[in-house]
Amino acid sequence: MMVPVLPFDGIALGCDYNPEQWAHATWREDVALMREAGVGFVTLGVFSWALLEPEPGRWDFGWFDEVLGLLHGAGIAVDLATATASPPPWLTAAHPEVLPVDREGRTLWPGSRQAWCPSSPVFRRHALRLVEQLARRYGAHPAVRLWHVSNELGCHNGRCYCDVSAAAFRRWLADRYRTVTALNDAWGTAFWSQRYGSFAQVLPPRIMPAQPNPTQELDFARFCSGELLAHYRAERDVLRAHSAVPVTTNLMVTAHQCEQDNHAWGRELDLVAQDHYLDHRLPDPHAEQRFAADLTRGVARGAPWLLMESATGAVNWQPVNVAKPPGALLADSLAYVARGADAVGFFQWRASRAGAEKYHSALVPHAGPDSAKFREVVALGEMLGRLGEVRGARVEAQVALLFDWECWWAADQGSHPRTEPGYRDLAQEWHAALTGLGATVDVVHPAADLARHRLLVVPALYLCSDATAAAVAAFAERGGQVLVTFWSGIVDERDHVRLGGHPGAFRDLLGVRVEEFHPLLPGATVRLDDGTAASTWTELLEARGAEVLARYTDGPLPGVPALTRRSAGTGAAWYLATRPDAAGTRALARRLLGAAGVPTVALPPGAEVVRRGRYLFVLHRGPDGDARVPARGLDLLSGEAVDGAVTVAPGGVAVVREAGADDRG
Ligand code: GAL
Ligand code: ZN
Repeated sequence: MMVPVLPFDGIALGCDYNPEQWAHATWREDVALMREAGVGFVTLGVFSWALLEPEPGRWDFGWFDEVLGLLHGAGIAVDLATATASPPPWLTAAHPEVLPVDREGRTLWPGSRQAWCPSSPVFRRHALRLVEQLARRYGAHPAVRLWHVSNELGCHNGRCYCDVSAAAFRRWLADRYRTVTALNDAWGTAFWSQRYGSFAQVLPPRIMPAQPNPTQELDFARFCSGELLAHYRAERDVLRAHSAVPVTTNLMVTAHQCEQDNHAWGRELDLVAQDHYLDHRLPDPHAEQRFAADLTRGVARGAPWLLMESATGAVNWQPVNVAKPPGALLADSLAYVARGADAVGFFQWRASRAGAEKYHSALVPHAGPDSAKFREVVALGEMLGRLGEVRGARVEAQVALLFDWECWWAADQGSHPRTEPGYRDLAQEWHAALTGLGATVDVVHPAADLARHRLLVVPALYLCSDATAAAVAAFAERGGQVLVTFWSGIVDERDHVRLGGHPGAFRDLLGVRVEEFHPLLPGATVRLDDGTAASTWTELLEARGAEVLARYTDGPLPGVPALTRRSAGTGAAWYLATRPDAAGTRALARRLLGAAGVPTVALPPGAEVVRRGRYLFVLHRGPDGDARVPARGLDLLSGEAVDGAVTVAPGGVAVVREAGADDRG
């Protein structure tokens, strides 16, 4: 069951609430302040197991009843966690076999959080017992509007290499391949004397002397994502047996987490919830945020989604934890709402006094509510309140970009012609170029419905199935413009090379054939005869039916084609065999949008435009220059009429309900 709208009112403001860290007296003040800030939902109980079940089978729900009652009395909806994210010390002390083991064979001990093996039947049994208690007790509680299974499943224990996991991996492989011969074929074990005589001989890819078998790695990644998803399903099914409230968990669709196939997970959630933090380790944190938000909508298959967690300021887990500049909270939050989020949640309500996250920002900082931070939170709540009518509206993009976690797992392994930049970065570069021109972009699974799109970008889709190749070709035949970039369509789902010349899956569609890769050393650049500067990659490409649009003038392959186009049906398939710099990528993006008939807007750097139903979001997080975007209607935030164009200065935001636009929301 996918719920069509979030079970909260309007565009809700929310947060993780951890009352167990505070004295009783603080709870009432908390609830009063939440009302002042317009908090519409809180996530409760994420790390409460050790207090809810202080000893095996002894339950202490009194304090929980009280907190739920207080919240309900204040009209605040509860996203109730199943509290299984972190096992209590009594469990790991009695059953050390539930502790996870890393690739190097080191046990991950208690003292932090999430120290449990996803395949452990002992952990599963104890977790489900707790879930059943909660489901029975609170399944029909009027405050509870959403169930929150565990927390960020796989954040710290995504891949476990222990003996229990090894046995589960063997069962998974036996189920997938049936015979050990089929496994040997799939893994290519004729190589390096790896042939297995039975499933019993197979191990997870633990630390090894040289490069691991790539298909073993890939299958282990599939297995690990599936193990945690099975844990999600097990908890969900217990909840469903006792409660009609929708169920979700907070995904991590972000640059630094790749262990979950979020497309597969999205299909199992009643609504998609996502945690996202600006990552200041990256050159452009906002570009990563925009990509992650558009990809989260792809995971939700276009439905509105819930931003479960973000930060009002600094986090505590980057090398330097940059605080948010004053005034940035609104635009940073609306960047998610523009791309389909129907609620904006934060970790956490009150900054902790003790523990590993005491320097993480919150809605109420250490300084207390008499602070610029809390006043900015109150202002955010007020602004979100003005956007209530946006709830449920759908983003409708004309551009789609394919992104796949299985491809990520295969593409970013070592032993390839080059390792940097990674798959996600290559995909994000194209997203940044397209969105920088004002295009709204859906970032979607390769099997997504592409009926509404006019331009399809396929960046570095190294691993791809025959079905994906056929869908991409059909898109062009139907009249779409397709861009395929280098390092796409190279291998099948077993990570076996498609023979006969690269890019095997797209060779016919593109009308090209590549005989040899010529990756460039870091810092090396090449020129194309259309003036484009490029780096990273070149290849010995021959046009076989495609028109050559640009060739290298220098580098290892002068005169060889770098950009081609072939007509296909009523559309066209473009191939880009190198990696242009930002200006070159932008120029080609503009040309493709033009060919596809998708309008562009001139925007200063850092400004963004997204259409969500009949609402036009214009945000400007760049340093200078006004963003001027054609629009007619009412700016819901300022209450001012917009007649012809909306102008947004640096730091500003506008959400225009467009007049006359049909209500597509
Ligand atoms: C998330 C997690 C929260 C909190 C937050 C800090 O990974 O779900 O519990 O740790 O990060 O940024
Ligand atoms: Zn394990």
